[in-house]
Amino acid sequence: MTRSNRKHPVALMLLALAALSMTPHAQAAPQGPSAFLPVPRASQITASSDALPRSFNIEWRGHRSPLLTRAAERFKQSWTSRLKTVTSPGPRAVLIIECRSDDPGFLQPTQKEAYSLTLKAGRVHLVADGPAGVLYGLASLRQAVIDGPGGPHLALGTIQDAPRFVWRGIMIDVARHFMSLDSLKRQIDAMEQVKLNVLHLHLSDNEGFRVESRLYPKLHEVGAHGQYYSQGEIRDLVTYARDRGVRIVPEFDVPGHTLAILTAYPELASGPTAGANYISAMNSALNPTIPETYAFLDGLFGEMAGLFPDPYFHVGGDEVTGEHWAKNPQIQAFMAAKVLKSKVELEGYFHDQLSAQLRRRGKIVIGWEEIGRVETGKDTVIQAWRGSGSMAKATALGHPVIVSAGYYLDLLEPAISAYRVDPQDPAASGLNPEQTATVRKHPIFGPRLADEMVKNPDLKLTEAQKTLVLGGEAALWSELVTDEILDQRLWPRAAAVAERLWSPAEVRDEADLYRRLYIVQEGLRRSGLKDEAKRAAMIANLAPTGTDTVRGFLDLVAPLRNHAHNHVLRGLLTFKAFPPQDFKGLADIAAADSFEVTRFDRSVDGLLAGDVTSAQSLRDQLQAWKDIASGVSALAATNPALAEASPITADIHDLSQIGLEALSAIETKTPSATDWTQRAEAALAKQAAAEKASATIFAGLSSKEQPPADLLILFVPSLQRLVEAAR
Ligand code: ACM
Repeated sequence: MTRSNRKHPVALMLLALAALSMTPHAQAAPQGPSAFLPVPRASQITASSDALPRSFNIEWRGHRSPLLTRAAERFKQSWTSRLKTVTSPGPRAVLIIECRSDDPGFLQPTQKEAYSLTLKAGRVHLVADGPAGVLYGLASLRQAVIDGPGGPHLALGTIQDAPRFVWRGIMIDVARHFMSLDSLKRQIDAMEQVKLNVLHLHLSDNEGFRVESRLYPKLHEVGAHGQYYSQGEIRDLVTYARDRGVRIVPEFDVPGHTLAILTAYPELASGPTAGANYISAMNSALNPTIPETYAFLDGLFGEMAGLFPDPYFHVGGDEVTGEHWAKNPQIQAFMAAKVLKSKVELEGYFHDQLSAQLRRRGKIVIGWEEIGRVETGKDTVIQAWRGSGSMAKATALGHPVIVSAGYYLDLLEPAISAYRVDPQDPAASGLNPEQTATVRKHPIFGPRLADEMVKNPDLKLTEAQKTLVLGGEAALWSELVTDEILDQRLWPRAAAVAERLWSPAEVRDEADLYRRLYIVQEGLRRSGLKDEAKRAAMIANLAPTGTDTVRGFLDLVAPLRNHAHNHVLRGLLTFKAFPPQDFKGLADIAAADSFEVTRFDRSVDGLLAGDVTSAQSLRDQLQAWKDIASGVSALAATNPALAEASPITADIHDLSQIGLEALSAIETKTPSATDWTQRAEAALAKQAAAEKASATIFAGLSSKEQPPADLLILFVPSLQRLVEAAR
């Protein structure tokens, strides 16, 4: 199947080439068994009968470099580790790697990324236009394994692949919680496997400045609480990422989000820097009216530009409240003298100076969408975050755009939530009319509501606007993410975003996504991802006896969504006191999605479609869940760390019992009694209310009540379907 939905001229050409090289009667790749993620643009998997080669002899053709040699070594190592569990591997095979150019654009958005793979028994041929394509071809070859009843086999056939978007990234906030260098390297390893190519590091915020500065050493001495990357570590990270086809884009957020900088250098501040809480810290900002600020930024960004070789440099620019500017007479006098009529115009003045400095250093400026509100150079890249409307607005103004709206993984929505957001759809992410009306009435959020945050189904993108969408970034803000849970907060959901950014827009089968996410996650773990290992250690710490039971329980729940688990923010917004959070509790260990529950969902699909064999597996799951709930209740009697979850385990027990009864009614075709239905519906309604309290960011932060232990029960929607079917 050849899908052509593209705008980038280079890729269009590659696509034409790919189409030419296809066999005339190419069939769609079987969606069932193959595990490619992202789904390739075109593939023809004809057979899957070849045993997995025990290893590959690599034959090089065309361009070769030390970087490619190292990539091939990594591939061979990962193949060996994959083979560890294979009892009877096949003979060695030949792997021809043919790289057609050294691509001077390598590691820039213009890099050559297309590749093709011809998979034959005993012989695999990878052809790529440049080094990036070789990396992606090897990533696909790692995934060209089909699990069948007789064990894993090599997929046979052909793949012609190239990405839909050139910018496919992850943003990690290392300011709110510091992430170790090793942890970042693990994320880069995983990124390579799903063909992501940008790691955007949010390196400074109110909570910390995370890079050693030799010019302004108080930044890391005072502004980092001892947690920062030395310049040597940054160079090491940049080199490590480069080897894996990943660019590091640094972000130093200015002029707001700068309390760490201002604590180190208070002479640059617009107002007081002491005594701020999470919300009032948002009022602090650099003083944009004094020459010292621009001298400081020129020096600092010059130093940082030397450390981070990427042509792009992110200056933040988001969420400036203007409070300290409004209260500072010197700043007000400056604005009057320069005829800057508003906070936004002062922001524009600031970014004009800053952008000119960065352009002189040869950098292309990126900023969060707020910097696009004022006249700024059309070459400035806008990162849309508050809603898809921001993407529409910035592209209408002629800016290249990176989309993060809809891809905020810190909101702890399930993978499909991000997967459904098309980067070029102007109404994909945002508030619906009902949510908008609620927010408008809220005393704090109402005044901050902007048009861009509201879904507008009337917005249409022109073809010219579409070409300005460079791609997107999954964003992980780290108020609630520590180094310990970084891996599991990113993966596997980041892989869903990777597919949205790489694969044709028509690839959107959600059940198939979950099927492949499961397989990809296993592969990522084999190559070093520590989500499961760290989760296991956290469970053992929380419940030294009964780890399996607690593990089973955590498979049935998710943490509250949309920052409702943020006790600091919830406390400030609802005027309630919460105990300090250590991010080691049940809600921190629980994932946003559960494959255990996805399996249940699929069986319910099957049963309701008439497949009676699904009933047994549903019964087994529900019975096991009842036992788990009883088990956790028993543990909670002597383990205070689990006691807070007791109401949830009681609910899981009840709901599982309701599910078993619904199954019996469905199987015996006996409509359930009215009082049973009422009881079941009341139990479901309670869970629906719990879900609703964190269904949007506004609900999450302003709802007075949230469910116990900050946990949601994940199998409620499918249970609802069973109860309806039993009526
Ligand atoms: C942002 O989330 N403040 C960019």
